[in-house]
Amino acid sequence: MKTYTDVPAAMRGMNTYGFSWMDFVTAIPSPLFVVTTYKRNGKTNACIQSWAAFSGNEKHFYAVLTNVSRRGHLCRTVHETGEAVISFPSADIYDRCMATIRCNGEETDEIAAAGLTAEPAETVHAPRIAECFMHLECRYLWDRAIMEGDDNVLMCFEVVAVCADEERLAAAGRYGRDGYLYNVHYPVDPERYAGRSHDSLAVLETIRELDEY
Ligand SMILES: Cc1cc2nc3c(=O)[nH]c(=O)nc-3n(C[C@H](O)[C@H](O)[C@H](O)COP(=O)(O)O)c2cc1C
Repeated sequence: MKTYTDVPAAMRGMNTYGFSWMDFVTAIPSPLFVVTTYKRNGKTNACIQSWAAFSGNEKHFYAVLTNVSRRGHLCRTVHETGEAVISFPSADIYDRCMATIRCNGEETDEIAAAGLTAEPAETVHAPRIAECFMHLECRYLWDRAIMEGDDNVLMCFEVVAVCADEERLAAAGRYGRDGYLYNVHYPVDPERYAGRSHDSLAVLETIRELDEY
């Protein structure tokens, strides 16, 4: 067992693109989803995100986006409208979801430009991506930097509606090759990093039921 408290020697020259070196040593997978909002001009905004937690209590269910760029359109449009949809794609539409990153202009209807279909959410003022199998319709609660001076913010939403493809809710339709996507972010071998690694797209395999506790 090796303990890392500082950037490993082999990773010292690595471009971490604003992330912590610990991100790449741990490479903990994060669910991958698209957050959609309306811009001031009524056009759709779409932002792929993959650092988040989803949990709650008996009264509320929360979506906590843990690393939202303050400079992105998502942050601005959420502050303007107070509402958003978090949509979960499966692998068959991943490339089109990625295309929203290139179709990021102020005048662009980003969902349509990426070859996807926008539909209005049922309970909030935000668009949904029709091809996604699960949507969380959300109201913005608050955001803040985790540490003073951080570029990105932790942004909290209350989920007010869950809209799901009924077939996916049956059996294990949410997992496996056609289910939730995960971003495996740049796993490196910290002792042997030689300047090459890559992100991977992953799906989840369930292996057994948990025991009662
Ligand atoms: C797999 C993946 C995960 C991403 N996760 C995040 C994220 O968690 N937070 C973030 O601010 N940007 C994230 N991005 C980058 C945004 O999707 C990208 O900058 C987007 O164009 C911003 O859109 P916006 O200007 O409409 O907010 C991610 C990109 C990819 C490809």
